[in-house]
Formats: sequence, C-alpha cells, structure tokens
Amino acid sequence: MEPVNLHEFEEAARTLLPRQAYDYYAGGANDGITLRANREAYEKIVLHYPVLRDVARRDARTTVLGEELSFPVMVAPTAFHRMACDAGECATARAAGRAGTVMVMSTLSNTAIKEVAAAATGPLWFQLYIYKDRAATLDLVRRAEAAGFRALVLTVDAQVWGRREADVRNGFSLPGGLTVANLAEHAKANFPAGVSGSGLAAYVGQMLDPSITWDDLVWLRGETKLPVLVKGVVRADDARLAVGNGAAGVIVSNHGGRQLDTAPATIDALPRVAEAVGGRLPVLVDGGIRRGTDVVKALALGAQATLIGRPILWGLATGGENGAFAVLEMLKAEFDLAMALCGARGVKDIEHSLLG
Ligand code: FNR
Ligand code: LAC
Repeated sequence: MEPVNLHEFEEAARTLLPRQAYDYYAGGANDGITLRANREAYEKIVLHYPVLRDVARRDARTTVLGEELSFPVMVAPTAFHRMACDAGECATARAAGRAGTVMVMSTLSNTAIKEVAAAATGPLWFQLYIYKDRAATLDLVRRAEAAGFRALVLTVDAQVWGRREADVRNGFSLPGGLTVANLAEHAKANFPAGVSGSGLAAYVGQMLDPSITWDDLVWLRGETKLPVLVKGVVRADDARLAVGNGAAGVIVSNHGGRQLDTAPATIDALPRVAEAVGGRLPVLVDGGIRRGTDVVKALALGAQATLIGRPILWGLATGGENGAFAVLEMLKAEFDLAMALCGARGVKDIEHSLLG
C-alpha cells in the first residue's frame, strides 16, 4: 500500500529497516519527552482560517538566504543515509534537487562531500561540528567550499552527546562496509572498536569539542566566506548572541529530541527566538514537522522556512531517491492545500492572525 501521509512512510520504513538502523533514526534522548513534545505542540495549535479569499492561484515558493525554494521546507542534516538505501546521500541530494529545495548535508555522511556534490541537482549546504582537531574541522570546510556548497550550518546543541538509550542497548555501530566517509582522511572513518553501548556516542565523544563558545562562531566566520547559520537555538538570549556574533541565520532546533530531553518543543520556542531576531536574519525551525499545516503554523509563528529530518530517511528506506522525493512532494501538496484552506495565495499571506 502506498503511504498517504508521512506517518505511513515511517510505518513502511519500520518494517523494512534492520532494527538497529530504525531505532537510531527514530530515537530520542532518554524518555523521549522532547521527541514527543515536538509533535504534540503542533497538534495543540489550531488554525483560525479566514473565508472567501480568492485562492484559485497559489504559489508556495519562497527565498531563504538567496536560495529559491519551491516551498518552505528544506532537508535537515541527518547522518548515515546509506543505512536506508545504497545510494544514500546521493539519492537524498537528487531528491531535494528534483523537489526544488536545499539539502543540508550532515558531516556524518556515508558518502563523501565531493561525491554528493557531483550527484546533486540543487543547492547544498553543509552541516558542521567543531572538533577538538581544528585542522580537521577546517579541512571539511575547505572541501565543502571547493565542492560548491553554499552555506555552513554550525550545530551548537551537541557539544556533548545526548543519551539515546535504544542505541546504547543495541550497541549501535555502522553496518558492514559503511564508513564516516568525510573523516576518512583523518583516520576517523570508523567508530572505535571494542566499546560497549553506542559506538556513535564513543566516536563523537572522542572528537567533539565540548569547550566551544560563541568565540568559535566568530573564528569560523573568519575562516570562510560562506554564510554560517547556527542550528540548535531555543532561547531569545542565544538568538541575540547569534545575531551579535555574525550568524547568517538561526535554526530553532532541539536536534529532533535527541539531545537534551525535556527541552522545549521547537514550535513553542520559535516565537521568542523570532521576536529576538526581529527580522535581522532568517529564522528556520525543525523538529516534528509532518503535515502541511505544521509548516503553515511555523510560518505564522515567525519562521521563514522549516526543515524535515526523519521523514526523508523513511522515504529513502521505502524507495530510495524516489521515496525521498515522494515525501517532499507529499508535504508540498499538503502545504498547498493548507495554504488554500487558510485563505493564503502565497507564503506572505500566512499571518499571525491565523493563530487567533
Ligand atoms: C539528526 N540530526 C542531526 N543534526 C545535525 O546537525 N547533524 C547531524 O548529523 C544530525 N544527524 C541526525 C540523525 C538522525 C537519524 C536524526 C533523526 C536527526 C537532527 C536533524 O538535523 C533535525 O534537527 C531533526 O531531525 C529534526 O526533527 P525531525 O524532522 O526528525 O522530527
Ligand atoms: C545524531 C547526529 C549524528 O543526532 O547528530 O545522531
């Protein structure tokens, strides 16, 4: 049976993926409270729709940092796409290009930067962590620049690793043959051998620098001409610091509920971040977006665009590039319908008054 919504893509993927891969993709930190809250918060918001507005012609397009998007949804950075399908990140890049949106590629991909860039048919941004090894960090930046990536997304909510208990229980490791392709040059292509618990947690625990501060954002900006967005902000004061330290954009995110459990749902954190940024930079949001109405709600609350993480993985698992494309097109169709039923002809018509 063909999935008729994003939830059904997850159901289908669950039956197809090995347990360890599904649990890694689906999981949240600890009790999964934030993971669930991301969804529940959207479900609680109601839309006060206006009537009798001509919605015969609609246009879902928008522009974020100069990127033209066919609708306000981008592909969030998620790790290890070749656990979902052989073509992995190349399939994702082609799907995003076909759907007319940006793929933010994770540092922790199973496919190297160059290969993904060669497969891509649309714009790519590169997600970065700052490692203890600054030379390795900069080497990734240089390779992303050389491959034509157009922005960097610095993830700031994962200086230390959240405890994903399913991964601990499963002893999560990369399936045979798969590597952390971008770190091969730095002798970090594989998780450390002989650890118990999550191999990924052990791997990143060795590499990530828990001492980074806003000064490291300034350092990174000084090292590259690419715009640097900051991903993982949920507070107004941090949003102001992002602006003050030269970020090119702010992504309201709690890492899909995988880092600090009991962090706020991102849609609840968005309004105060948007207010603090005050239109000076684009504000994006991810976490729990599964419906076209969720995208409408995020825009009404001050986001310029949204990103989806797990649904892309479910698409890859069920149908490779075509599956990921189908996920994006399904959400696009839902967004178009939601706009129409909200009396909006375009993204600019999505106003705060929809929230009552
Ligand atoms: C992620 N996320 C993530 N973020 C990041 O900055 N770098 C990364 O490598 C990853 N990897 C990753 C793997 C998996 C399996 C998941 C589910 C998530 C977080 C991701 O970018 C995003 O914030 C969330 O996935 C958004 O929530 P939804 O759409 O998955 O609910
Ligand atoms: C995760 C990463 C890789 O959430 O950020 O698993």
